[in-house]
This record gives sequence, structure tokens and C-alpha cells, in this order.
Amino acid sequence: MAQVESNKQQPGSADTPDGAGSLDTGVRVWPSKRYAEMHRRSMEDPQGFWSDQARKLDWYKTWDRVLDWDAPYAHWFVGGKLNASYQCVDRHVKTWRRSKVAIYWEGEAGETRVLSYSTLFREVNHCAAVLQKLGVQKGDRVALYLPMVPELPIFMLACARIGATHTVIFSGFSAQSIADRVNDTGTKLIVTADGGYRRGKVVALKEITDEAVKMCPSVEKVIVVKRTGQKAPMKEGRDFWLSDLLGDGESQPKVKPEALDSAHPLYILYTSGTTGKPKGVVHGTGGYMVYNHSAYQWVFDIKEDSVYWCTADVGWVTGHSCIVYAPLSHGAAIVLYEGAPDYPSVHRWWDIVQKYGVTIFYTSPTAVRLFMRYGPEWPQKHDMSSLELLGSVGEPINPEAWRWYYKYIGGERCPIVDTWWQTETGGIMISPTPGIEPVPLKPGSATFPLPGIDAAVVDSDGKETLPRQTGYLTIRKPWPGMLVDIYGAPDRYKEAYWSRFPGSYYTGDFAMRDEDGYFWLLGRADEVLKVAGHRIGTAEVEDAVVSYPDVAEAAVAGKPDPVKGEAIVLFVTLKQGVSASPALKDGLVKHLRRVIGPVATPDEIYFVDSLPKTRSGKIMRRVLKAVASEQKLGDLTTLEDETSVEEVKRAYESLKGLSGGVKEKG
Ligand code: WTA
Repeated sequence: MAQVESNKQQPGSADTPDGAGSLDTGVRVWPSKRYAEMHRRSMEDPQGFWSDQARKLDWYKTWDRVLDWDAPYAHWFVGGKLNASYQCVDRHVKTWRRSKVAIYWEGEAGETRVLSYSTLFREVNHCAAVLQKLGVQKGDRVALYLPMVPELPIFMLACARIGATHTVIFSGFSAQSIADRVNDTGTKLIVTADGGYRRGKVVALKEITDEAVKMCPSVEKVIVVKRTGQKAPMKEGRDFWLSDLLGDGESQPKVKPEALDSAHPLYILYTSGTTGKPKGVVHGTGGYMVYNHSAYQWVFDIKEDSVYWCTADVGWVTGHSCIVYAPLSHGAAIVLYEGAPDYPSVHRWWDIVQKYGVTIFYTSPTAVRLFMRYGPEWPQKHDMSSLELLGSVGEPINPEAWRWYYKYIGGERCPIVDTWWQTETGGIMISPTPGIEPVPLKPGSATFPLPGIDAAVVDSDGKETLPRQTGYLTIRKPWPGMLVDIYGAPDRYKEAYWSRFPGSYYTGDFAMRDEDGYFWLLGRADEVLKVAGHRIGTAEVEDAVVSYPDVAEAAVAGKPDPVKGEAIVLFVTLKQGVSASPALKDGLVKHLRRVIGPVATPDEIYFVDSLPKTRSGKIMRRVLKAVASEQKLGDLTTLEDETSVEEVKRAYESLKGLSGGVKEKG
């Protein structure tokens, strides 16, 4: 534990990102020598650096070239062959780790399952055989719509084993969302469960899947995992219980992992952007695995006896990289918990920490703020002395939440790694790196980019900003974890990430650096919201709202929320002859939950006579945002130029005065 023990630093002093600095951009203090040396080498000799990292994995064939940079497409470890499932299971069962715990699973109702690496190996093999038996071949796409049960990582690894590309669909999504994703990828097979538990209630996942499959002509087979035991209608010849397919297990053959090209698509994961349709982010195998294996070590300082718990859902990228691929590639023991943080009581999470002796705990600022609300007495009733390192992900962590987390969860002993990254980046990009060398932490700052990551904060002309000046976060060099494409939409890939600042990857985030060079992430710079850490595009919600029969037009804005970070506010105009009513509001909310899922539930709905628009018909989003967040309009000079300041002000004042008749609070 030496490295973590020596990391008992106190938070630094400059802990709020306010006030503009006047120092030159040249001032960059890298407070950790080992880190600085590693970062410097990775910038000066990226190919040598990444090839050293890649050697930590097992390859069937080593690469001919580390990188072909055919901008904006990066081909990593060209000519290399490997298998992600081999990295995560086979390589461990060849060692003493075969009897080491891979997964401590805790069901919502308190049931448990403990899977050793050899059990995981067996189950991955069995499920890979089942997939093959149902006709899945290398290159096929397989959709996984499952709750947080061991079968979810098992099927991901089973797909990876045979070279099928998985697309995991978060189990909170609706039938329509499943259908959109399945149709976009042309999936032939879906793996689901009869049901899933959510706060003691059963969600009928199979029924939702059936509804989706009606809209998906490509789906031929559905595998159903028994979880809740409720009735699930099974269609002869199409639907199969996993238990029937597995039989006694003994009859299942071992499945040799496919030696896959480094570029082989490991998975597709849909995420929201600025346009209505979520984008299918494609990750390859070689670059993704190399990057995550390294980043995970640097950030979490993983050790043989670590017990690591990431509370994210496997359905998001955090779950893909930081529950499944990176930890298992290290042979780590992970905790997988099925249920809600505070169900059946506020003790739940802290019970789990105590029960399994969790040493590394990784969660979201929203969860921290939720527990802050309940008060420190809950965690204080538990022995949490096993904890050594805490992590935060998904949204900016406000200094107040950071301090609470540090004090009441970490006992003022555990460093916090505030990790900034995205579905597209594949792995953690900006974060403290106690696995290399500790740096002094500043509450609310993700500190420094990882080795190999050339992050910069630039103004709208692409020029680096001065310290404490807000700009756009960009990445100036390709890195192995980066997305390889948007599925079936290369133009969107180029447009969304590589057109804003030619030659650099555009993150869509605001950021600034302070005079010590620390990075502060300041939220999205585009029309994407982060609601309880979930990424939701305003356009996606707007499209769903206008598909409701009574609605004429809709606009969505984010509003600061003390727990969720951001909340959804809807501005809606109704069709002629329709008037606002509580019933209409309820109908609209239900409709949104049905079309997208509960994550899209709005906090407030305003029925308005008209939406504020510029002369060319663009919605004045800043006006709506200011109204939604009950803030002043701020600087008007950069607002849509063809509209006069007076017009904007008028629109703002008229909306702000939303009177009882039109305002329907959610
Ligand atoms: C935000 C989640 C501040 C950011 C891994 C990014 C963060 C978006 C942080 C990606 C952080 C993530 N501090 N903001 N530590 N981590 N974000 O694709 O706006 O769900 O662009 O990936 O989350 O969200 P995604």
C-alpha cells in the first residue's frame, strides 16, 4: 500500500476557480516529478511510450506499427492481434488468480454471488458457446439489455471472445430507445432478463424488449436471463431461457478466443450529442484495451489485494471501462451492486463497503450530494477504514461536495481522484495519478492530463487561454482509447469532434487552467445536459416532446440542481385549441418516459405562448437557460447577432414573467 499511504496529502489552497488570472500561458507547474517525466516522454516519443504500455498486454501477434494517423482516424497497433476476453479472464486463470475473486455481486434484495476468475472463465466460455449455437459470428452485433447482474459482464466478455461487437443498452431505457439502437446496428440477437429490480419494484424487461422487437426487423433471437422469476411471454423459436441453453453447463464446449485485429470493434455505445439521434460510439480492441489497462493503473493504483467498487451502471461507458475491461484486465476483485444507493435504506452502500472491505470507491458527484443531504451520521455508523482511495466521475464535483466526500467517506485519509473523461475518450483522460506519484489535490479540479494526453484549453480561435480564463477543452494528439468512429456515420464523427478546431479533438466541454496548470472542468459548452451524471441531448428530448400530439414546439434548457447537478426544464407551445392542464403535463411526462426512459423526466414544464426566437428562427437558448435557472441574462454581446439586444431582453422579460396561467411547475 506504500504509494497510497504516502498519498495522504491535504487539499491545496487555491480551490475555487473564480477570478481571472494575469499570468502568461507559459507558466505551467507540474508538481510531481515522476509524472512530469512520464508525460514529457509520452509527448516527445508517443510511439515508444505507447508501445511500452502495449507490451503489458498479451498479444497473439505484436503490432507492425504503433500508430497510423490518417487524420481524423487513428489506427493503433496496426497488424497486432489480441482478444479482450483473453486479457480479462484467460490470462488470470493461468496463474494463482484462478481462485481469486473476480466479482462480488450483491443483489438489490441482499442475495449475493461470488465469482472467482475460474468461475468467470467458465461462464464466459459457456455463454460464448451459447451465442455461437444461436448463430452469432465474428463481426455480428449483439445487444445486451440487462440489469446489473453478473450475466452482463459475462455476456460482454463472451461477445468479445468470439469477435461479436456488443452494444449494451442501459436497462432504464425504453422500448423505443432499444429499437433505435438495435435498428442502427442491425442486431440479430438481444440478451435480456425477465425483469430487473428497481427500489423493490420489478421492471418487466422482457416485456419492454418484446415491444422493442416489434419495431426491429433484424432481430432473430432473444436470450432471456432469469432474474426476478416473473412471467415472461416466450415466443417459440425466437426466445430462449439462458438456463435452457446452458443445460448442465458441462456439455458446453470451451470456446477458443478469436485472435482479433487491433482495430476490431469491441463495442458500440450510444451517447447523446447535439443532434436528436444518439451517436453510436465505436471502440476498437487494441488501442482501447491498452489505454484502459494503463490509465486504470495510473489513476487507481490497483494492487493485488484491492477491492474495487465502481457504483456506475455497466450500461454507461464508466461501467464498460471501469467495471469490466480495465479492472478485469488487471485481475482485480470488483464489487457489482444491482440496486439503488439508498434502498432499502441509506445504510445500503456503506454496508457494502464494510462487508467487502472495499479499498477503492468510485462514484458520481450526484451520489455524493445525495448522501450529503442525508447527513454524515449514516456513513459514520459503519467501519469504512478499509477505504484507501476515492474517485469521482461524470460531472463537475463542486468543492463543497468534494470536501464532504473527503471528510465523511474518506475519513480525511483517502485522496480523491476526480476523473474527467467521456464515452468517446474510452478511458480516463484528466485525473490525479496516485499510481504514478501523488500530486497535491485541489477540491473541484481534475488536476492534470494522463501521460499521453495532450489536453489544452483554447479560445474560439483555437489559441490557448490565459490562466483562469474559460475556454474549450481540446485534445491535440490522438490517444489509443479514442473512439474509432461513429457507427455508420463517419460524417458525424468528423463534424462533431474534428471540425471545430482542425487537427484537435473537440470535447464539447468548457474548462480552464489555473496558474499552477491544474485543469478545472466547467460543464458542457454545447447543447448536452448532465442530469445526475447521465448525458442527455436537449435535441433528443425536444424531438420526443414534439412527437406528443398536443405539442406544437418545444425547447429544453438545463437548470442547476443541488443534487443532480442539472435538471431538465421544458418550454412548450401547444397546438391551437389545446390548453395547458395538469393532465396534459402528466401525459407529456409519461410520453417522455416511454419514448426515452425515466432519465428524461423533466423537473419543470412551462407552457408558453411562443418561444423566443431570433429573426432567422433560431431559438434563443441563452434566454431560456437564464429563465430556467432564474439567473440574469448576462453578457448579451455574443448572442445571435441578427437579433437586437432589445429584442432579446424583451423575450427574457416576457418569459420571466410567466404567470400562473401558463406556468406549470413540474
Ligand atoms: C462530463 C462519462 C467534470 C463532461 C465518463 C463530459 C465531467 C461528459 C467529469 C461525458 C469530471 C465527466 N468533471 N465533468 N470529472 N467526468 N464529465 O460520455 O461534461 O457520459 O463531456 O462519460 O461528462 O459524459 P459521458
